[in-house]
Formats: sequence, structure tokens, C-alpha cells
Amino acid sequence: MRRKFVAGNWKMNTTRQVGVDLAKGLAAALGTGDLGVDVAVCPPFPYLEAVKSAVAGSAITVGAQNCYFEKPGAFTGEVAAPMLVDIGCTWVILGHSERRAILGETDAVIAKKTATALSAGLKVILCVGEQLSERQANQTEAVLNTQMSGSLAGITAEQMANIVIAYEPVWAIGTGVTATNEQAQAAHAYLRGWLAKHYNPQVAEVMRIQYGGSVKASNADGLLSQPDVDGALVGGASLKVDDFVPIVQAARKSK
Ligand code: PGA
Repeated sequence: MRRKFVAGNWKMNTTRQVGVDLAKGLAAALGTGDLGVDVAVCPPFPYLEAVKSAVAGSAITVGAQNCYFEKPGAFTGEVAAPMLVDIGCTWVILGHSERRAILGETDAVIAKKTATALSAGLKVILCVGEQLSERQANQTEAVLNTQMSGSLAGITAEQMANIVIAYEPVWAIGTGVTATNEQAQAAHAYLRGWLAKHYNPQVAEVMRIQYGGSVKASNADGLLSQPDVDGALVGGASLKVDDFVPIVQAARKSK
């Protein structure tokens, strides 16, 4: 039985105070006991420590939205994976479509970041997903295949225990357009099959695959009840307590 996992990707949003208030609000709403699901928030780098303190005592863990693949050294402006561990991060999001499209990250770069993050002791939320034109050209599975092979190059079956895959169709991110339950399930089933083929059935069976792309309270139930949807990576709706908590509750209900 895969434990559901809901993560909030705050992207380049909030101020310190807004982030701390949001984190405190989530911690208060979700309480201190075991939620039966995993919950993480991923604020911008400058607010990681403050948010980590704000959720202390709750079951909420904290993640970053990126890291560099080199060891600490002369890389001006970059953040090394061990630094994130040092300040109490559990997770790092890698391969987000905004970083692929806007920052030019390739699968090869993402693979290096994934390996570095894992060896530093971080858990990785690895994002994959097709563009609208690729879906319209029936290329969804081919794109996912390329991204999975490239981004996971060199990652062993043992290391996969510390990875979560996030399927995020690019056309559904921040657009208000969500994949239908059936579209999400089909892509997730493809990804699970991919894992069985390229790793082994055990890796495929235990791997959590989150859906991301305009997840909100009103569509969370349907998406999270699909057999291969094991959680959500939430952007816009992670920025308000009243929007995010119902998504966590939907995940709890769907267990
Ligand atoms: P969205 O973003 O929920 O605002 O669509 C999801 C994501 O990019 O992780």
C-alpha cells in the first residue's frame, strides 16, 4: 500500500512573513499526530529555515525547489544539496517543467542533480510531463520515456526508494486546465509500467507517483482516487491554508 504524498510547490512566491504564516496555519490545521499521508511544503530558498521552524512539531516536512549538482565550492549563486540537508530539508523538487523550459535544464543536468541530491541524503520529487503540442501529436509516452530515462540515468533500484515521481502535464500547470482523471491515470499507469520494465516490478509497485497541474479542492478527490495516483504536487492551491488543507484531506480520505 503506497502512502499518499501531497506537496506544496510555492514556486517564487510569498514573503518571509506570508510564508511563515502559511506554514503555521497549515501546521495548526493539520495538527501534530500522524496524518496517514505525507505532507511537505517547498518554499523559496530564503524562507526554508523560517518555514522549517514554523512547522516544527507537526508532521509537515520541508523541501527545496532546486539544488546544484556540484559539491560546495566556487559556483556563485548556486545552492549545494548538503546545504539543504544542513538546514533541515527532507525533499528537493528536481526537473520541474519551469526549470526545464525557462532555465534550460536538460535531462542530463537533472540526472546529475538527482544523483547529487540522493547522495547528500535528500529525497527527490522528480518531475516529468509533456507539452500540449506533444500530447496533441500523440507523443506523451515517448516524451515521458525520454525524460524518465534521461533524468534517472545512473540511478539504481535501491536509490529509487528515495524518489517520488511527479507527473505534471505542462499544459495543466498554472492554467486552471486539469488533466481528466482518465488522462492522469493513463499517464501514471504508463510511468509505473516504465518503472517495472526499466527497474523491476517491486520498484514500480512501491513508487509514489504524484499528479501535478491545477490540482485544487474541487478536483482532488477524483484525481487522488485513481489507482496509480499516489498524491499531488500542488502549485497555486498550496499558497492558501484553505485551498491546501482540503487537498490533504482528500488524500487522507482516498487511502
Ligand atoms: P499548479 O502548479 O498547481 O499551479 O498548476 C503545479 C506545479 O507546477 O507543481
